[in-house]
Amino acid sequence: MTKTSAEAGSDFPGIIYTEKKPGKWKEKVGGHAPKVSVEGKKITIATKHPMTEKHYIVRHTLVDEHGKVIGEKTFYPTDKEAVSTYELPDGFKGGLYATSFCNLHDLWVTKIDV
Ligand SMILES: [Fe+2]
Repeated sequence: MTKTSAEAGSDFPGIIYTEKKPGKWKEKVGGHAPKVSVEGKKITIATKHPMTEKHYIVRHTLVDEHGKVIGEKTFYPTDKEAVSTYELPDGFKGGLYATSFCNLHDLWVTKIDV
């Protein structure tokens, strides 16, 4: 059975957090679960989170359902926002995992299918 975004974190409770399974961070969903948008081959990952020296988004990755890393971006506290863009290979179809890591609130994953 294919996992939906609601189930994406269920294999790793306390390690991977998702919008539907935020665990101990249930008050933190809005600023941490990455939002993924698709325009043709272009994928944008956005985390609506402040970027300050003490609290910021460290990194995004985009990984296909077979574990192939399509792209990654490391952020710094001086970056204005945690937004990254990627280009899918021609003809790509399947599942994608977008990850977003907060320096205080751990690893969040959103799964989409394209
Ligand atoms: Fe955070």
